[in-house]
Formats: sequence, structure tokens, C-alpha cells
Amino acid sequence: MIITRPPMGWNSWNTFAENINEKVVMETADFIVESGLKDCGYEYVIIDDCWSLRERNEKGEIVPDPEKFPHGMKYVADYVHSKGLKFGMYSCAGTLTCARYPGSYDHEFTDARCFAEWGVDYLKYDFCFHPHSTFGHFLYKRMSLALANCGRDIVFAACSWGAENTKTWIKETGAHSWRSTGDIVDSWESIKRLAQDQLKVPEYNGNGCYNDMDMLVVGMKGEGNVGITGCSVEEYKTHFAFWAMMGSPLIIGCDLRKADEDAMAILKNKMLIDIDQDEAYRQPFFVNGDRHFNKNRTGDEPLYDYYPVDEPFMVRFLANGDLAIGAFNFRDRNIRIFATLDSIGLGECTGKTLELTSVWTGEKKIVTNGTILEELEPHCCEVYRARVIDK
Ligand code: GLA
Repeated sequence: MIITRPPMGWNSWNTFAENINEKVVMETADFIVESGLKDCGYEYVIIDDCWSLRERNEKGEIVPDPEKFPHGMKYVADYVHSKGLKFGMYSCAGTLTCARYPGSYDHEFTDARCFAEWGVDYLKYDFCFHPHSTFGHFLYKRMSLALANCGRDIVFAACSWGAENTKTWIKETGAHSWRSTGDIVDSWESIKRLAQDQLKVPEYNGNGCYNDMDMLVVGMKGEGNVGITGCSVEEYKTHFAFWAMMGSPLIIGCDLRKADEDAMAILKNKMLIDIDQDEAYRQPFFVNGDRHFNKNRTGDEPLYDYYPVDEPFMVRFLANGDLAIGAFNFRDRNIRIFATLDSIGLGECTGKTLELTSVWTGEKKIVTNGTILEELEPHCCEVYRARVIDK
């Protein structure tokens, strides 16, 4: 199977970890529909680690923990499907999952068959406890083949955190996405680290196999499994906007049942979701002032060496001819950054300019002097959808 958009949904790990159960999953599915998140595009309800017993049964199958899932997994999947949503689960390429529950190593076809029987539509596949005698690409190929032959369409979301140079082999495994960063936690430092790490790999992203920057922490406010310090509303906005500019899967990680209005407004931002899900799926490029055109470059160095990682000013070409433009401040002080229209492909002689619409306020402005200037407070961003117009 192929997928044509980065997946959107919810995953249990960030908040619930081993406290996951049927009630949480079903109530979250209800909420996704009732709150309008489903209409915004969120469709996968994903159970992460800690859903099974510690031992396989006599047939070699993984068994859902009957205390957490008393009606079994098909019951949960059927419920999620009855809401018009899709159902995701988790396993691991190693002998154990990261939380030491049974992994799928040497049981790939058995597990894929069970997932298909239960009605699973998405499998996140982790990388802990893999035998060191075997390479990661081989293990991901195994499960990919098992899923592709299980009789059901299942999205294969690889989660090897970039290990063993994942980016160079992940597409050949048949995976639909790959975790291109380490694990997120609910703090500004974590968001910043993952965002800047992602600037090393945008060229590996693309339709069919998406760079997955990890689940969102928007709305966690320091609560739950990876809730550390929590973040300010502005930091959550920057987080969501950056993930959308990069075209990452948008997988919510907070307890949606407790999400506040600020979180819901961020998660439902239609203009950002449209940028994330844009069908052309182009990667952003950098337009910071004149620094992007460093005269000392030979052109052979890794681009990352020249990226202004603390204040990226990025542009992404969209399918209908519009542009997504994002200016981000990862510094702890105010900044002023600018980009020229020339660096975007709109030189003076074209007779064209841009009309910018802020994704946050909906306010419009027209670029009059060939330069977009942004003044940003610490940890803040401005993102626009821009339209090419006559001067
Ligand atoms: C790894 C993954 C996380 C999560 C945990 C579960 O750390 O990267 O996203 O799935 O395992 O144990």
C-alpha cells in the first residue's frame, strides 16, 4: 500500500505509557469525533507500548493484557472504526519492546497476522532490544514484508530514531514513515533539540515515506509520562508550526479529554494543517538574509553547516502555487530576521510580490519593498501562507 499524506492522529505514549487501557482509548476516540478533531484530519488512534502481557501464549502470539483490555483488541478496533477512525498499535523489532514487553523479533508473520485479525490500520515499530548480530534494515524489511502480506492495509511507521543511518535504507524497507529524531519530552529544550536535529535530514523526507519528528506535546502542560516542565502557549505554537512546516506526521500526545482551549486552537489550526498535508509535499528551504548564500561555500558541504539553526527562516512551495513562509526564534532573546523576495524566486524584474496571511491571526499584509522582515520574541514564530500577486 501507499499513503499520500503524513499520518495524523493520537498516540497513548506521551501521557499514558503503562497506564493505557480500553477506556482511555475509547474515550479518546469519542473526543476526537465530538471535538471536531476528526474533521480537521486526525484519524489514527494509536496504542503505544505496554498493551500486552509479558509472555506470549502457547501459539506464540502476543496477548493483550486482559486487565487493560478486557474485551480484547478487536473490540477496541471495532469501536474506533465505528467512529470513522483508524486504529494503530505498537510493536518492536527487538526481542522486547522498550518497556520490556514481548517484541516481534522472529515472530513477525505471526504478529502481523494477529494485527490484521484485530483490525489494525497502523503499526509503530520500535528498535529496542534488537539482536546486535542483525542490522536494523533487515529487521524492518522483515516486518514490512509480513505486513504487506497479512491481508490488510497497515501503515508501517518505523521508529528506529535515525539509528544505523536509518535515512539511507528506510525507503527500501517499504516503511511509510521513519522517526527522524529521538524521543520528545514536554519541555522547550526538547522541542528545540528535535527541531534543530530535523534540519539535518529534510532532504530525506518525501511522499510515500515521511520524516516523523515524534509525537506532539501540545497541551501536555507538564502532565503525564513525558510531561517534564511543560511549555508556554507560545512554545506549543512554535512546536506545532515547525512540525507542520517540516511536513511531519501530526500525532497528538496529550490527554485530549483534559486539553484546554489554547491547545485545541493550536491542534485545529487549519492553515498549518493544510501546509503540513500539502499534496505536493515539497521540503522547506532557507532564506535568511544573505547568509544562505555564503560565498565561501563550495557546494559540497552538508547544508546543515550553513543553516541558521537558531533562527531559521523557511519557505515551502505548495501545490497550488502558494508558499508557506515560517520564521522561527529558537533563541532566548528577541531577534529581527529578514528574507528577500529575490531569495524566494521573485526578483524585482518579475513584477510580482507576495500577499501574506498569518496562520495565527488571519491578518494579511503585502510585501512592498522586496523584503520580509520579522521581529520575534524568544521561542516565538510567525508563519504565513503567501500568494503571488501583481505589484
Ligand atoms: C521508544 C519510542 C517512544 C515510545 C517508547 C515506548 O522510546 O521512541 O516513542 O514508543 O519507546 O517504550
